[in-house]
Amino acid sequence: MDRQPAAVPGEQVARAARGGGAPTAQPAPAPQPAVALTPAQRDERLKEMAAEVAACTGCVLAAGRTSAVFGEGSHTPKLVIVGEAPGAEEDRSGRPFVGAAGQLLTKMLGAIGLAREDVYICNLLKCRPPGNRNPRPEEVGACKPFLREQLGLLRPPLILALGSPATRELLQTRRGIMSLRGRFSRTPDGYRVMPTFHPAYLLRRPEAKRDVWGDLKKVAADLGLELPKRN
Ligand code: URA
Repeated sequence: MDRQPAAVPGEQVARAARGGGAPTAQPAPAPQPAVALTPAQRDERLKEMAAEVAACTGCVLAAGRTSAVFGEGSHTPKLVIVGEAPGAEEDRSGRPFVGAAGQLLTKMLGAIGLAREDVYICNLLKCRPPGNRNPRPEEVGACKPFLREQLGLLRPPLILALGSPATRELLQTRRGIMSLRGRFSRTPDGYRVMPTFHPAYLLRRPEAKRDVWGDLKKVAADLGLELPKRN
């Protein structure tokens, strides 16, 4: 069932009057689109966009990719997950978060009772940076219209931002993930965001899993999810 209509492609969603990216714990709906699309138009536009991303030559990363990774999941998601950029396995398969970090992400979602099909998973960059280096500003600049439009079509009640690059771009801040994670914040466009550590970081620093579990419990409570029993 559709919660809200989607935005017309390319159209800027009006800024929520109370927005501005300041941390807030106030639940509020996602910003309203100026013009509604039907679910079929939304689905069609997402399909078209995936083809546009596959053909994109907007930055140097296009030259090195095997596949662009557009994103996948529910088109009426409870939660949109925004990661950093595809890694080697994602570049090979064309699907987001299918490597080791992706397997951990799938477990993290499962811990709060969400399957991958319940959410929508995508990245800040749609193509793999060589050697998984950090995204460069010009790459983020070239790719961000895609993410902005994806969000406008999906209208998520909440975004889970994984790691610094995704969080900084969504919240339009230079602050790092250490100071931003664990608190509900709002993008300048009015989307609610919970920043947390990237699962790739958790693979290197398993002791940070405790913090992420705390963040995920806040997400579950916010979405009204009942936590599955842990065995
Ligand atoms: N890391 C990301 O940020 N995104 C992916 O899709 C895979 C790994």
